[in-house]
Amino acid sequence: MIEARHLTKRYAGRTAVDHISFEVGKGEIVGFLGPNGAGKSTTLRMLTCFLSATEGTATVAGYDIYEDSLEVRRRIGYMPENVPLYPDMRVGEYLRFRGRLKGLGYRECRAAVAEAMDTCSLAAVERKMIATLSKGYRQRVGLADALVHKPELLILDEPTNGLDPGQIRQSRNLIRELGERHTILISTHILSEVEMTCGRVIIIDRGTIKASDSPQNLIRRLRRPGSVLLEAKAPATAATKLAAIAGVQEVNPSEDQDGWTSFVLATDPQSDVREAVHELAIRESWKVRELSSRTASLEDAFVDLLKEESPPESSSSLKTEN
Ligand SMILES: Nc1ncnc2c1ncn2[C@@H]1O[C@H](COP(=O)(O)OP(=O)(O)O)[C@@H](O)[C@H]1O
Ligand SMILES: [Mg+2]
Repeated sequence: MIEARHLTKRYAGRTAVDHISFEVGKGEIVGFLGPNGAGKSTTLRMLTCFLSATEGTATVAGYDIYEDSLEVRRRIGYMPENVPLYPDMRVGEYLRFRGRLKGLGYRECRAAVAEAMDTCSLAAVERKMIATLSKGYRQRVGLADALVHKPELLILDEPTNGLDPGQIRQSRNLIRELGERHTILISTHILSEVEMTCGRVIIIDRGTIKASDSPQNLIRRLRRPGSVLLEAKAPATAATKLAAIAGVQEVNPSEDQDGWTSFVLATDPQSDVREAVHELAIRESWKVRELSSRTASLEDAFVDLLKEESPPESSSSLKTEN
C-alpha cells in the first residue's frame, strides 16, 4: 500500500527526514513512533502530497506521489496533526462540504457523511457549530473528514493528541474497528495505544528509522534483565538462597510491615525463575503472598532503542496512558 524509498526532507540546512525507506502492506495497522521532532509529521506530509520531498520518492497504492498525486490523494484519508476546521460551519454541513470537495456526488455525499458520522459517533452534534465543540468532538470531526470518501489508506497524525484517558480508550477501539476496513498508518506518542492496536511499529528518531517490527518482537529483543517480585515471610538468609537460583542475577530485599519482606529479583533476560522460587519457598516453608514477574513493555523497548545515541531528555516527552 505504501512504499517509501529514501524519502528525505531538508529544511533550511536542517535534515528533518534522512533517507527513510519502509513499506506498509495492505490491511496493516502500522504505528509510527518517535520522540518530538523525530520527523513523523514531515514524513506523513510527504506521503500525503502536502509537502514535497527533497530527495527520494514513494508510491501509494502503486501511484507515485509526484506523478500521480491526484490518484494518491483520492486513496488517502489524512488527518493532520492540528485538524484544520472551519469554526463557523456546522458539523454536518462541513462534512458534506468536504465530501463534495473530494469529488462525491450530491446523494453519494449525503449517504457517505451519514455513515462517517455514525462511525465517529457524531450524530448528536450534527447541527452544532464547530467552534462550540470540545477537543474530543473536533478530533472526531477530523477523523470523519478523513473517512468520508472511503479511502483505502488512513494516515492519522497523532489523532489522540490532547484527549483525556476515556476518549483515548474510545478512539483506540474506533481505530481497531477502522483497521478491519482500511490500511492505517498512525503516528502517536501513546505507547500503550500502539501496543494494543498496531501489528507493526516503525520507530523513528532524528529522521532515521531505528526499528520496524511487531510490538511483541521489539519487547522480546530487549536486552535489559527481567525482574520477579516475591513477597514472603522469610528469614534474613532467604536472600542468599534466592540468589543461588539459576538465572537470578541479584536480589534486593526490603522489609515491609508485620514480618513480610519484598524481594526484587533481577533475572537473566530470557529465564523465568518463578517456578524455582515457588519450589524453594515450599521447601523452606516460607509464607508467600505474591509471586509475579514484571513484564517488559513497549515503552521499555522504546527507551532502550533510543537511549544508545540520544540525550536522555529526548525520550522524556513520552506519555503512557494510565
Ligand atoms: N516548516 C518547517 N520549517 C523548518 N523546520 C521544520 C518545519 N517543520 C518541521 N521542522 C523541523 O523538522 C523536524 C521534524 O519535525 P516533525 O516532522 O514535525 O517531527 P514530529 O512530527 O516527529 O514531532 C523538527 O526538528 C522540526 O523542528
Ligand atoms: Mg508531529
